[in-house]
Amino acid sequence: MAKIEGKCKEVMDKTEWVAIVTCSDNGPHVVATWGDYVRDMSVKGEEVVIIPAGHYNITEENLKKNNRVELLIASKQVQGNYGPGQGCCISGKGELQTSGKFAEMAKEKFPWARGALVIKVKEVSTQL
Ligand SMILES: Cc1cc2nc3c(=O)[nH]c(=O)nc-3n(C[C@H](O)[C@H](O)[C@H](O)COP(=O)(O)O)c2cc1C
Repeated sequence: MAKIEGKCKEVMDKTEWVAIVTCSDNGPHVVATWGDYVRDMSVKGEEVVIIPAGHYNITEENLKKNNRVELLIASKQVQGNYGPGQGCCISGKGELQTSGKFAEMAKEKFPWARGALVIKVKEVSTQL
């Protein structure tokens, strides 16, 4: 397990949106969420990213067959090694949960949510 800390925490605090990539039988599948949704759902001390799930139906099916998931976040407001702008790739194992504490938290904060996409973070790396 890995933590989102340092530069990646700075990027997570600023990113406007988050790309979420899973693997389907036909190749990669890309969806997204808003950065402030992830920040609203953050849990202290847990190495997980929690995202409110309204749809994510294909993502859910993909994760049942292959639970690997990659997230990409970025912000020009965070300094990178080459100038303004840093991005961070977060790899982990994901599951769409429709019950349990994370799903209940998502439904409470986002009445449109049917559950939570929960990603256990395995690796974090900067890109710029
Ligand atoms: C910027 C952005 C934010 C989004 N936020 C969410 C979100 O928080 N929850 C959600 O279920 N879908 C969100 N969507 C829609 C998903 O990307 C996706 O199209 C939809 O959930 C269908 O997923 P599926 O292809 O896995 O079935 C967002 C899309 C964009 C472009």
